[in-house]
Amino acid sequence: MGKTIKVGVVGVGQMGTYHAQIYQKLPQADLVAICEYNDERRAQAQKEFGCKAYKDYKEMLADPEIEAVSIVLPDNMHREAVEVAVANHKHILLEKPLAKELKDGKALYEITKDYDKVFTVGFLLRFDPRFNMIKQALDNGELGDIIHLYCRRNSPIIGPRRYIGASDLSMHVMIHDIDYINWYMGCEPVKVFAKNRSVLLKENGMNDVIYAIVTYENGAIACLEACWVLPENSPTIIDDKLELVGTKGVAYVDSCDHGVRFVTDKKVSYPDSRHWYYTNGEVCGDLAEEVMAFINNVANGTKSIITPKEAFNSLRVVDAIERSIAEGKEVEL
Ligand SMILES: NC(=O)c1ccc[n+]([C@@H]2O[C@H](COP(=O)([O-])OP(=O)(O)OC[C@H]3O[C@@H](n4cnc5c(N)ncnc54)[C@H](O)[C@@H]3O)[C@@H](O)[C@H]2O)c1
Repeated sequence: MGKTIKVGVVGVGQMGTYHAQIYQKLPQADLVAICEYNDERRAQAQKEFGCKAYKDYKEMLADPEIEAVSIVLPDNMHREAVEVAVANHKHILLEKPLAKELKDGKALYEITKDYDKVFTVGFLLRFDPRFNMIKQALDNGELGDIIHLYCRRNSPIIGPRRYIGASDLSMHVMIHDIDYINWYMGCEPVKVFAKNRSVLLKENGMNDVIYAIVTYENGAIACLEACWVLPENSPTIIDDKLELVGTKGVAYVDSCDHGVRFVTDKKVSYPDSRHWYYTNGEVCGDLAEEVMAFINNVANGTKSIITPKEAFNSLRVVDAIERSIAEGKEVEL
């Protein structure tokens, strides 16, 4: 077996806990520290993971024992934490998005584009077999050239209530689709037209829904829909769809019910069986694949399949969506 990589996790909320649990199951990784600012959560995580627990990530990132870190902080805190991690020469897996604002994303792109350690951003659909199979079919010519595609990513209102002030729909949710669409297109996005509505989340200054049409350099168009105000008791955590029409074929993804359904006296539910579900007590799914790919990159001295340029490009599309909404017209990238 190869060398064991000493790992830390910054931010042990919902996603950081999964990251830490995944590191703990990997033989190549040794989870040596977590950092959590909330006292109760930090105590809980220290108990669960039995490792060093920091309150201040600057202190944790200065620890020379730690070689690699997951940064799993709210979207508006990514920039500073990555800057500190880069200054301390850590390998970095940053949860998406690169940043909340374009200027912060640009600053991070500049310091990571020639970084000599692994730097990757957690776009987990790159590790989802369905989205990956479509990329393979595009690459081997089975689908021909993309004429257009439609996608949707809708979820219950529980999500945005956790992110008030720290994020919004375009950079938090729609960016997943933007990332794989840019990857499929293989050319630059050039124009965006977007419309929004804010009803249930209006008082929080957040969007309920966004529709965006992105035009690419090759003429292909992508129509994206994202809404995160489905009722709390929706049976699914994510209702996502993709229909891609190429000159030689069509591809579909439909994941509303994730392939498993429960009906009891209390509720109907379609639990997650793709992203971060538990099998035999361990976190599995595309999130685990993403974390494993990061550890493999560190162990093998290779770069991530997700580049700083791609992470920045996704944020450029987000920025164009926000500009188009504000200006009420199609905008250039
Ligand atoms: N890949 C995905 O599909 C996916 C899904 C959900 C969230 N995310 C991303 O993961 C990140 C975290 O989201 P989450 O849902 O886990 O949020 P969360 O609020 O559950 O967790 C964030 C944690 O960071 C802690 N924190 C805040 N400031 C801190 C500081 N200065 N030092 C240390 N800890 C601090 C908070 O106390 C909290 O426990 C976000 O960037 C989000 O976009 C990704």
